[in-house]
Amino acid sequence: MIVQNGTCYTLHTAHTSYQLAAGPGGMLLHTYYGPRLPDGAPNLADSRPPHGDPGCWTDLLPKEFSAPGTADNRTAPCLPEYADGSEAADLLFVSARMQKGKPALPGLPMFRDGDGVETLCVTLRDEFGLEVELRYTVYEAEELITRSAVYKNAGEKPLTLHKAASLCLDFAPGCYDLITLNGTWAAERTPERAPLRCGVQSVGSARGVPGHAHNPAAILCAPDATETAGECWGFAFVYSGNFLIEAERCDAGERLVIGIHPYHFHWTLAPGESFAAPEAAMVYADGGLGQMSRRFHNAIRTRLLPPRWQDMQAPRPVLLNSWEAFYFDFDEERLVQLAAAAQKAGIDLFVLDDGWFKGRSDTSSSLGDWAEDEAKLPDGLPGLCRRVGELGLDLGLWVEPEAVSPDSDLYRAHPDWAFAVPGRRPLEIRRQYTLDFSRPEVVDAVWQQLERVLRSCPIRYLKWDMNRSLADVYSAALPAARQGEVYHRYVLGVYELQRRVTETFPDLLLENCAGGGARFDCGMLYYSPQIWCSDNTDARARLLIQYGTSLIYPGCVMGAHYSAVPNHCTGHLSTMEARMAAALFGTFGFELDLTGYSEEELAALRPYVAWYKAHGGLVRGGELYRLANPDVSALGAAWMVAAPDGSEAAVFAVGDALGGAHGPASLNSLPRLPLRGLDAAALYADEAGERYTGAQLMAAGLPLPGARGQTPACIWYLRRVDAHMDE
Ligand code: DGJ
Repeated sequence: MIVQNGTCYTLHTAHTSYQLAAGPGGMLLHTYYGPRLPDGAPNLADSRPPHGDPGCWTDLLPKEFSAPGTADNRTAPCLPEYADGSEAADLLFVSARMQKGKPALPGLPMFRDGDGVETLCVTLRDEFGLEVELRYTVYEAEELITRSAVYKNAGEKPLTLHKAASLCLDFAPGCYDLITLNGTWAAERTPERAPLRCGVQSVGSARGVPGHAHNPAAILCAPDATETAGECWGFAFVYSGNFLIEAERCDAGERLVIGIHPYHFHWTLAPGESFAAPEAAMVYADGGLGQMSRRFHNAIRTRLLPPRWQDMQAPRPVLLNSWEAFYFDFDEERLVQLAAAAQKAGIDLFVLDDGWFKGRSDTSSSLGDWAEDEAKLPDGLPGLCRRVGELGLDLGLWVEPEAVSPDSDLYRAHPDWAFAVPGRRPLEIRRQYTLDFSRPEVVDAVWQQLERVLRSCPIRYLKWDMNRSLADVYSAALPAARQGEVYHRYVLGVYELQRRVTETFPDLLLENCAGGGARFDCGMLYYSPQIWCSDNTDARARLLIQYGTSLIYPGCVMGAHYSAVPNHCTGHLSTMEARMAAALFGTFGFELDLTGYSEEELAALRPYVAWYKAHGGLVRGGELYRLANPDVSALGAAWMVAAPDGSEAAVFAVGDALGGAHGPASLNSLPRLPLRGLDAAALYADEAGERYTGAQLMAAGLPLPGARGQTPACIWYLRRVDAHMDE
């Protein structure tokens, strides 16, 4: 609900409120973001001037949005340059309007319009011509507010934006911790938490994709916030390219700015033209990080994912991916043998990863030539699809549409379609270049190839990979003055192609991937309901990666596969139960060579597949409670997923978490794991028929078996078995 009181606007979700108000001289002030205010609450703007000099106020008052050069010296969300070379703008309140639903952001993904959605649009203007429309969309039940900013040149001469962020949020002076999700290849999204110090702390990417090193999401929280208590503000950028998140602490308080990275971004607007910045999403919770995460998970599941995949109770295929089984070393016979073994384990979908197309036998060639390699697939994809289908499995396929190998027919025909700075030899990474997706004709040409492949036989699943950072970003199709648009136009091209694929093939299950999890963001989730989390499938490493990921993103979007030991990435050993538990955290699939497995070994996998088929709806759609979080040594973790009505729950404990409330597994105690999210008054039974009350499970805890060895693990399923005990 949005409530207007003069020029004060209060945005209410079910349990939170956000308020902004026009203040002295038309300055738009940020006045509140926290627990829900009573209806009709007055404007919370502080009427006390900071001190007698109004000229200084602009640097001290909490502002909703600002530009530099007018004495607001905090981190600026936008940097305009006018035709006369001046770079100052005083953005003042002009008007506001409220509407049902939400205006589109052309070419950009966003949390979806729908029932119960309302938007506030506030126009700010600088007298020299820059106009910014701030958009706030309220998702009341989901406790979510999304924001974006549309920049317009309302003047008479061109103006150039050197920075055009999406969100700026000021906090009254206080103490906050900043949590960001960082890492590297095979160790993505490790959470790091530290007090926000004076000055600016930032994470970002100038790689063209968000990258492995930092995720486009951040959390500010009270220093004493824990999983179960305390104030948290969570933010996620709905964008899949260069980004910058800046958190500043200064005399005036704290400021957070989220937007496209200003590196090599400049966008000139002719009079009347606009630039729409991508959306940023925010959630407030006063019940700790766990509550904040659950709010994000619910909003992502119900308002962001493609509608076709939002029903968490609808079955999702259990897949087997060929990559860690065979890498590039396969032919049709081997693939069919692998699919036959997968069928015996109860798997539904066989995914053919990299290496299926013309001449591709290692990373040195063929990207861009999306036609079958006849040496490996004599009857093409239709032939393989038929044989896999005869086994009762569906077929899925890997592609890397943005990439081109120097040794490819596509590159030989169109060398200018790859990014290259004139006169500079382009950098090969993984022996490949990147196609200039800022050019519509390049997107069209790749689309024609993909469409032909996807129409050639029933392909049910597509893994869209992207295996390098961008470099040499320069478009042969744009003049020098417009090269600053290329990074963003590239992302728009990626979105356009994903839109065509998903709209033309609405039943296709799209999974995004970028050398593991280098493009794990809300922009991608608009098109694909799952993203490959990391190339590291080691159970212990995955616990840490998936824990960090779960701070913002729900388990149902995390591509997670059971794989071989020793793990191909780390060389570690871990138990079957631990590897299964880690894979069941996410989308649950397999990625190993099963062709050498005996009938008994294949039969041993079947109960897990059956467990997922029986309880997958709960795992995907339930509420996540993190019971014990892994640290960087990733020695263990425990988590549970409870149905929102408390009727059932799945509980997982791995490694030292099996020590329960007593910490590391003890050989000389009877550890217990206190649960959360159950109905205290109900009676629950586990799969062995043991019964407990919800109160017992949450206060005293689930009795743990005690465990020894490397990565012991346990998986429980609890079901409410009768009416409330107090009824
Ligand atoms: C990187 C991906 O993350 C892997 O899963 C695999 O698809 C390879 N690329 C294939 O080249």
